[in-house]
Amino acid sequence: MKEVGKLTSKVLTMIKKKIDIGISTEEINNICHDYIYNKLKVTSACLGYKKYPKSICISVNDVVCHGIPNKNIILKNGDILNIDISLKKDGYFGDSSQMFLIGKCSKIAKKLCKITLKSLYESIKIIKPGIKLRKIGQTIQNIAYKNNFSIVKEYCGHGIGKSFHEEPYILHYDSPNQEIILKENMIFTIEPMINEGKRHIICDKDLWTIRTRDKSLSAQYEHTILITKNGYEVLTLRKNEKIV
Ligand code: MF3
Ligand code: CO
Repeated sequence: MKEVGKLTSKVLTMIKKKIDIGISTEEINNICHDYIYNKLKVTSACLGYKKYPKSICISVNDVVCHGIPNKNIILKNGDILNIDISLKKDGYFGDSSQMFLIGKCSKIAKKLCKITLKSLYESIKIIKPGIKLRKIGQTIQNIAYKNNFSIVKEYCGHGIGKSFHEEPYILHYDSPNQEIILKENMIFTIEPMINEGKRHIICDKDLWTIRTRDKSLSAQYEHTILITKNGYEVLTLRKNEKIV
């Protein structure tokens, strides 16, 4: 899990340097696909998953998650996008995503990304054996709501290991159904999707692309996290990234 987590983070570090105004999301997919298969020599967990057609997900502006890379979606000044990388190596899975801001973005776009990252970091920082799972959702919710943003409720974090998605499911809002106690060696993702406007979503005709119903911006960050004896280890931590 540590190995596949590290490789997952490397894809995001690599692609950061390639992203700019004028590139299509299909080109970004193709660069990542080549890097995953030919350089890292591992497999995308997305390609072919429930018939998903591409190797990564790219979700631009009002797209919440599962955006399908497309040659007609060209990055432009002011766009915000999430790139979601899921890998499989020797039967184990890693999963991580982050936002990228293109050129000069609006104040609200920058704030949404900053607060979404903060909600992920603050929810990671409280992790240790013995706490209730519920604390994660509470932490994210407090930060999002204080900033007048909403939280997507239809998608959640997940246990991950020898399968891509497994128990426990990690809600990004407070819920009484999250009473389990975290234990050492559990591994799961946290991946809050936070909207500028209302929380409601719609799905495109492609049956994958999820958008905000009110067309407001949406942001997401994701890490795969291991619970250690006294705290946590972020298995998908990127080079130069600090949980602050
Ligand atoms: N990476 C997503 C997650 O965080 C799942 C994407 S499934 C795909 O769980 F098929 F859309 F790629
Ligand atoms: Co995930």
